[in-house]
Amino acid sequence: MTTILVIESSANGDSSVSGLLVKDALRDLLAAHPGARIIHRDLGASPVPHVTTANLAGVRGEPVTETEKATRTLSDTLVAELKAADIILMGVPMYNFSVPTVLRSWFDHVLRAGLTFSYTEAGPKGLLDGKRAIVIEARGGLYSEGPAQAIDFQEPYLRQLFGFTGITDVTFVHAEKIGFGPEARAAAIDGARAKLAGIIASLDSKAA
Ligand SMILES: Cc1cc2nc3c(=O)[nH]c(=O)nc-3n(C[C@H](O)[C@H](O)[C@H](O)COP(=O)(O)O)c2cc1C
Repeated sequence: MTTILVIESSANGDSSVSGLLVKDALRDLLAAHPGARIIHRDLGASPVPHVTTANLAGVRGEPVTETEKATRTLSDTLVAELKAADIILMGVPMYNFSVPTVLRSWFDHVLRAGLTFSYTEAGPKGLLDGKRAIVIEARGGLYSEGPAQAIDFQEPYLRQLFGFTGITDVTFVHAEKIGFGPEARAAAIDGARAKLAGIIASLDSKAA
């Protein structure tokens, strides 16, 4: 059975563009994989805690306090969800040229030496093989072309984080110029929908 891990990270609730596109993509993925198991984390609505002095040992170190132990339990759960996933569907708004801090925090919990990556003589090695990720990026401006390409710290950063765990089959879909008015917003959503439909159809034929 296919397992789909859905990670959302917008603070915009029902008016989120990335959230809308994640819903569409999930519907298409479920049509292609009937009966798939869905694991859903909406980090914008239910964030995982940021790593702080009080809980750091739960993520990296030996947990001793109740807070650290609870953090270890949560981190272990998030790692298990990621390991179980065949397909990762992620919705990511651009916040200040990068990813929302709630998503960064999720990565802080799942990038764990010995579980999702390891240190070897040849350098770090990702431990997660055979997964596919579809990442939907919503942006107020235009970054996939033009002068702002150089200040896109969202997509290269996500590619690095996934790659560090061994997930290299990552497809990015953009909904850009969301802040340029209703027409630009509608065009961006339509364009992203069309791209997603093609990507999901091709995932399916790759799997066949
Ligand atoms: C805190 C914050 C920071 C933002 N920073 C940027 C930015 O750096 N560049 C940009 O193009 N848009 C930026 N935006 C606009 C969002 O990327 C845009 O509204 C996008 O549609 C949000 O995704 P969502 O609709 O899924 O919530 C920012 C929005 C917020 C709330």
